Amino acid sequence: MYCIKKVTDDLVWVGANDRRLAFFEGVYSVPTGVSYNSYLLTDEKTVLFDTVDKAVRQRFLENIEEALKGRKLDYLVVQHVEPDHSAVIPELIRQHPEIKIVCSARVLQFIKQFYDFDIDSRVNLVEENETLNTGKHTLQFIMAPMVHWPEVMMTYDSTAKILFSADAFGCFGALNGALFADEVDFAKDYMDEARRYYSNIVGKYGTQVESALGKASALNIETICPLHGFVWRSNLSEILSKYMLWSRYEPEERGVMIAYASVYGNTENAAEILACRLRDKGIKTVIFDVSVTPASEIVSAAFKWSHLVFASTTYNAGIFVTMEALINDLAAHNIQNRRVAIIENGSWAPTSGGLIREILGKCEKINILENNVSILSGLKQAQLSDIEAMAEAIGADFAAPAGAAQNNQSAPNAVDPAAMFKLSYGLFVLTARDGNKDNGCIINTVMQLTASPVKITIGVNKANYTHDMILKTGKFNVSVLSEGVPFRVFQQFGFHSGKDTDKFAGSGEALRTENGIRYVSEWTNGVISAEVKESIDCGTHTLFIAEVNQAFSLSRDPSVTYQYYFDNIKPKPQPPKGNKKGFVCKICGYVHEGDTLPDDFICPLCKHGAGDFEPI
Ligand code: FEO
Repeated sequence: MYCIKKVTDDLVWVGANDRRLAFFEGVYSVPTGVSYNSYLLTDEKTVLFDTVDKAVRQRFLENIEEALKGRKLDYLVVQHVEPDHSAVIPELIRQHPEIKIVCSARVLQFIKQFYDFDIDSRVNLVEENETLNTGKHTLQFIMAPMVHWPEVMMTYDSTAKILFSADAFGCFGALNGALFADEVDFAKDYMDEARRYYSNIVGKYGTQVESALGKASALNIETICPLHGFVWRSNLSEILSKYMLWSRYEPEERGVMIAYASVYGNTENAAEILACRLRDKGIKTVIFDVSVTPASEIVSAAFKWSHLVFASTTYNAGIFVTMEALINDLAAHNIQNRRVAIIENGSWAPTSGGLIREILGKCEKINILENNVSILSGLKQAQLSDIEAMAEAIGADFAAPAGAAQNNQSAPNAVDPAAMFKLSYGLFVLTARDGNKDNGCIINTVMQLTASPVKITIGVNKANYTHDMILKTGKFNVSVLSEGVPFRVFQQFGFHSGKDTDKFAGSGEALRTENGIRYVSEWTNGVISAEVKESIDCGTHTLFIAEVNQAFSLSRDPSVTYQYYFDNIKPKPQPPKGNKKGFVCKICGYVHEGDTLPDDFICPLCKHGAGDFEPI
């Protein structure tokens, strides 16, 4: 019996799950299974995006027949020829001989290498950025070589703003009835598997993944449909931000991953003692026994953590077998940009440390601690100091985060404005209503003050018209902005005064809470209505203390932080052309060209003063 899931009104998931596969690609254990995704677009033409592994062929063929509802199948877009996505092509063609195969020349070459059916008579070759119109939809083809094989192609549906991303953004694990990442707790339950999938399947090709991400960044993508794992239709930044780190081999977490290979427990003992000394210093640690934990999990952890320690006994005058396999695996996956420490053991000729150093030393930006700890059979009291020294050396990195000490030029008691940016804030649309006038502005200071009754505080600049309206009416709404909010929302509410403009112009239906004040429903994950109980004059700002009388959630998307806004939303300033000097507004990115900036300069975009500018 078919089992299909709707993605959009005219796009259906026709893939299937496999929970009997022991090893993906014959190497990677998949204890929670894997999904093979395929999608059918039913436009004026019908278009199938890839097929599935032969293990789930029967379900897949039933799914297609159900989704087609008697229509013929016009196109099969082949994005990736690895057999977990192409194995059913020959049978599909036998059942639907009318199919045209849309693919790149490299895909065509690989199909001919793997299969023997007549493809030349039905192939429709496409090149980079070529488009195919299927009725309402226009498909744009984007080459993504080495993500994961050289022939890989992605497809962008510019009508529905969907990226069919091939292996990119995939994940191990069967879908278990869900289809969308927002239907599960992805961060808690699936991110580790997404990292294991990425690091082991495409981890070697960070440069090529970065190139594909660069192409994707030029597209307006609202949904990502990968070939494995969940479809992303909200909070895309959750997975995109991880791909940006992984592709650049940047660690996600500061902490130490210790992997050990131990025959009789003595090397393990050294690893455990090191972990204890690191924890004593407040440093996060994880430990793996490489003879027990599958290498793919340790490779994945190595992509996550900033510091790596390898502790191995010597075996056959070399590195212990499972550790040797792991070290070679890491080197093959291009591990980079890590601090490494090595512990070796050997009863008569310890060599494993030097050999590990030799292999990892060839990897880019691997900084190996100068002194190995070298153990003869078992750690002795006199050698505890060596472990202590290693913990000290690693701990020194954590005591002095990147450039912190040398960057702080301020006198100890001075107020360094940069320190203020270390405070975490959210970003919110604050709205009010006075008579028939609706207005709103952007603020970053909302805080819950008490739980019973629920009270909040907001700090509002007196220059804001919304401030005056709240002072007069005593009522306001806070719309909590979520990640994904575009810059234009900040332009709409933040960069001009409501005295002269209607900030809600063109905003569609006027949604109001019970107090009659408008709120922002798009790119917002929660709304809070409150009534002012107290106001405190703080000079440039007024601090309002207010009691909450209505509050509701709109989505599960994470809230935007001030830092996230600067890192991901605010356009990066373009430097002045030529040798011109200039100053950039830290709030909105406006660039003022010139050698000097007058003290009373006001940003023409966001109206912030000279104090919020910095030299380029
Ligand atoms: Fe899922 Fe590279 O194949």
